[in-house]
Amino acid sequence: MILFKRVIDLQEYLRSKKDQGDQIGFVPTMGALHQGHLSLMKISKTHCDITVCSIFVNPTQFNDPGDLAKYPRTIGADIDLLTSVEVDVLFLPPVEEVYPEGLDTSIDVDFGELANVMEGAFRPGHFDGMAQVVWRLLSIVEPDKLFMGQKDFQQVAIVQEMLKQFEAPIELIRCPIVREEDGLAMSSRNVRLSPENRGAAVALSRTLEQANEKMSGASPKEICAWAMEALALPNFKPEYFEIVDGVTLQAIDAFEDADLVVACTAVWVGDVRLIDNRILKEN
Ligand code: PAJ
Repeated sequence: MILFKRVIDLQEYLRSKKDQGDQIGFVPTMGALHQGHLSLMKISKTHCDITVCSIFVNPTQFNDPGDLAKYPRTIGADIDLLTSVEVDVLFLPPVEEVYPEGLDTSIDVDFGELANVMEGAFRPGHFDGMAQVVWRLLSIVEPDKLFMGQKDFQQVAIVQEMLKQFEAPIELIRCPIVREEDGLAMSSRNVRLSPENRGAAVALSRTLEQANEKMSGASPKEICAWAMEALALPNFKPEYFEIVDGVTLQAIDAFEDADLVVACTAVWVGDVRLIDNRILKEN
């Protein structure tokens, strides 16, 4: 694996690969890597000749400065993991390479209602910062394919909309959620759960599973109300449980109202905020 910290060096290397006709796959991350991240690298490697991973803890997408300060940083272990799955390139830029003084990295995109619901409602500004850094990284790497996890379902929908509005010739591939053995969706934040809360956190995936089972006998609204109660456990603070159209991300009244239906939830478990989702219907 080749490590680049400077934009100019990464671009020079990638240019030589593109000139040979190589397809470039890109997996942006914030590090603290786990098997969920590595699954994206592996999928990219099956689609592309060169897989580029970036690790950059993007300050502009943290609406809570405490969350940014507490974000786990495990670069030594990350490099070992990326090497083990034979990622070709790691881009590990310092802040001034991503946001150089004098360069306007802001973007002008209107995500409309996509960014106002769920994570957008509870983490104001988060998606603006996320979209800004993803666009900046895409402008640097110029990949053919971009690999992102369904774990952050709304993030994928917003990036897809951004690619559409900018008419970017990049294919976005949504990759399945990788879970721990008990069902908890893998997340860099899981390491911050106390042992007791780590055990209890299985309630998120279990509630999503039960919501799926309830589909035949209840409306989306009834299931959401049930799920919010089911998640009101000791040490838990559920923020939302919504059943939405997977394209518009708006809540639906009936399962027939959309071809892609997803249940999405965010819950504070102690002082750790967890998100998870499950596709309930995909035509
Ligand atoms: P991060 O949270 O590090 O996630 C990087 C990528 O890994 C995202 O596409 C995310 O959806 C995916 N991922 C995380 N957990 C996963 C799991 N359990 N299974 C499958 N995929 C998983 O998301 C971000 O970083 C940032 O917002 C970023 C896009 C890098 C912009 O800063």
